[in-house]
Amino acid sequence: MAPRKIIIDTDPGQDDAFAILFALGSPEDLEVVGITTVGGNVPLSLTTKNALKVVELAGRPDVPVFAGCPAPMVKKLMTAEYVHGETGLDGAELPEPATPVQDEHAVNWMVRTIMAAREGEITVCTLGPMTNLAMAMTMEPRIVPRIREVVLMGGGFFEGGNATPAAEFNIFVDPHAAHKVFHSGVPVTMAPIDCTYTAQMTPEWLGTLRATGSRAALEAANMAEFYCQYGDHKFPTRARPIHDACVTGYLLSPNIYEQRQCYVTVDISSSETIGMTVVDWWHVTGKEKNVNVLRRIEPAPFFDLMLDRISALP
Ligand code: BDR
Ligand code: CA
Repeated sequence: MAPRKIIIDTDPGQDDAFAILFALGSPEDLEVVGITTVGGNVPLSLTTKNALKVVELAGRPDVPVFAGCPAPMVKKLMTAEYVHGETGLDGAELPEPATPVQDEHAVNWMVRTIMAAREGEITVCTLGPMTNLAMAMTMEPRIVPRIREVVLMGGGFFEGGNATPAAEFNIFVDPHAAHKVFHSGVPVTMAPIDCTYTAQMTPEWLGTLRATGSRAALEAANMAEFYCQYGDHKFPTRARPIHDACVTGYLLSPNIYEQRQCYVTVDISSSETIGMTVVDWWHVTGKEKNVNVLRRIEPAPFFDLMLDRISALP
């Protein structure tokens, strides 16, 4: 079978970097057609530079990177240097990218690429605020039925939120974009923090990754060690969820995830709970189910696979 074609829309972010390396280390399964960046964990200029650094780290400067929207559709941008550091990829020592960003705007490229592809050929993976995809859908609604699936990291229900008591970061930053995508009619699979918290990256696993010896593995371990410093107030050990990598894991091995089709919406109007994903787990509303919600991951096969794929990179 030909590899599945994906667009990765991202705001790197160490966990975004893991998701990208995991995908680029899996060329027989996934073809990364391009990477689009968005303002999120850090401002757009940095997320774009970081995406370029990551493709170069993977030995794949041929994967084009397109800069997208610097700010959400309606709200002001909120960033997360408190988790990811000032650069967004603190912990890794990566050279300034030699590869330039593409001239075309990410939203224009996304529309052009999806329209030019066969119907159902392209999967869009969003690892940050969903601004670029929502803008693309607004600009050219005909892309919606052409997309095979949107697989996103975002939202939370049973675990509550990590940006506010109710909202997860990616959805909180641009709830209007998430609302647009969830209600567009496109098939959506969502990896909320309820799912990502069930696959925690341990210091032992990072030691094994480092010991594989490739430069990609080494720098991934370096950045992860920085990233794992945040969260001692929440987690009893230094094990941490590696959120965005759960999207790549799902694409490669969906059977290791518990999943349920649900009606999901996003609060875009109330002051306390804006950005909350409301998941009708028990189908009490009777509304049409629009999202495949991922719940639990089997951690062992997930981490085995990620180790295998990232350590295959140079
Ligand atoms: C999400 O927020 C960002 O900080 C991470 O990169 C991830 O996409 C987790 O809530
Ligand atoms: Ca992210």
